[in-house]
Amino acid sequence: MKIMVVGGGGREHAIIKALKKNPTVTEIFALPGNGGIAADATCVDIGAKDIDAISAFAKENAIDFAVVAPDDPLVLGCVDALEALGIPCFGPRANAAIIEGSKVFSKNLMKKYGIPTASYEVFDDIHAAIAYAQDCPLPIVVKADGLALGKGVLIANSRHEVNEALRSLMEEKIFGTSGSSVVIEEFLTGPEVSVLAFTDGKVVRPMVSSMDHKRARDNDEGLNTGGMGTVAPNPYYTKEIADLCMETIFLPTIQAMNAEGRTFKGCLYFGLMLTPNGPKVIEYNCRFGDPETQVVLPLLESDLLTIMRAVADGTLADTDVTFSSGAACCVVCASDGYPGSYKTGYPITLPKTAENEEIYVAGAKCKDGTVVTSGGRVLGTVAVRETLRDAVDAAYALADKVSFENKYYRSDIGKRALAAME
Ligand code: AMP
Ligand code: GLY
Repeated sequence: MKIMVVGGGGREHAIIKALKKNPTVTEIFALPGNGGIAADATCVDIGAKDIDAISAFAKENAIDFAVVAPDDPLVLGCVDALEALGIPCFGPRANAAIIEGSKVFSKNLMKKYGIPTASYEVFDDIHAAIAYAQDCPLPIVVKADGLALGKGVLIANSRHEVNEALRSLMEEKIFGTSGSSVVIEEFLTGPEVSVLAFTDGKVVRPMVSSMDHKRARDNDEGLNTGGMGTVAPNPYYTKEIADLCMETIFLPTIQAMNAEGRTFKGCLYFGLMLTPNGPKVIEYNCRFGDPETQVVLPLLESDLLTIMRAVADGTLADTDVTFSSGAACCVVCASDGYPGSYKTGYPITLPKTAENEEIYVAGAKCKDGTVVTSGGRVLGTVAVRETLRDAVDAAYALADKVSFENKYYRSDIGKRALAAME
């Protein structure tokens, strides 16, 4: 089988390495891929948002199965375009990807179908938004409606900050039209859990839970990033909570999307907060998380391609989705300065990995035969072990052996999870 994976980060590298385990796979194309992915797939210089070029490439190369991984092409209708050419795909169509593409849509969906989430109001007029926020208890959460590279959520601790946040989104339009509408919502507290789930619109098969570390610096300080590291499973997510989430969140969400005529097929990401009043949805993503995927897929014992094809065919109920009982940790090695400005172009040297270890490359390119840094998050070192303690230690041992100038990583990935287990 010839497979095409749209995207080019650490998540896509993890997906490609898992797909390669299936013996029927003869070739994998990554669009655009990156300098590290090039060791595992044929990288093609087509951007993940260029739907026309992606479609033309898939047709010309007789692709048998496509995986669309990032949010942008999903929201733009990449799956719709490929399916129109008769190419089976893993990923939601645009009318279902809206669950991530519009926070106003997802909040209204949860309200309509009684799915637990923070209480909120939607505004498209800045004066009404400012007037409403004056009476809300602090802190207040302000969210841009549309995609904003994961940066569209502002948490304001004073009235002044709320007004500034609303002005920057709605007047200065720092995220463009994403901020034309905003959601103002209640601030929730509690441990956060990421749950990625396979669904074919009929059944939901949650994957092993995980914990992201979104802030740039140790002890959750510094700016929000795309994610500086992950562990799986998440110790806060007990069997009891998992059962409750299935009943009150996962199944109701799938049913709600069906009732709206927007059947979701693919990987649905539930960003949950375990509040004193029960689990609530912080956000939905219409795709695999990054860097959650880098710890979840190494724990998958079943065959990823078989599952993805079953999702596309609507036969997930008959398909095995099993995870190992071990634990995994991913430490992201970034360019120092990220998520602000940083320098790139430094050669990367990677250590040898053992069988239960992986290095997933995100921000690297090939230059004159050498792999050099090209992005903020450069790569993730991943280790799978029987216990989380051992997985964390092994992922850090690997991160220490990666070499490139300006390397920066958080030193406390997994610390909170390990403390919670004591
Ligand atoms: P999101 O981009 O929606 O994942 O939001 C980024 C981060 O902002 C989340 O991971 C939470 O830590 C935080 N956040 C978002 N919404 C809320 C909320 N209602 N209450 C508290 N924290 C929130
Ligand atoms: N790691 C968070 C996300 O993928 O959105």
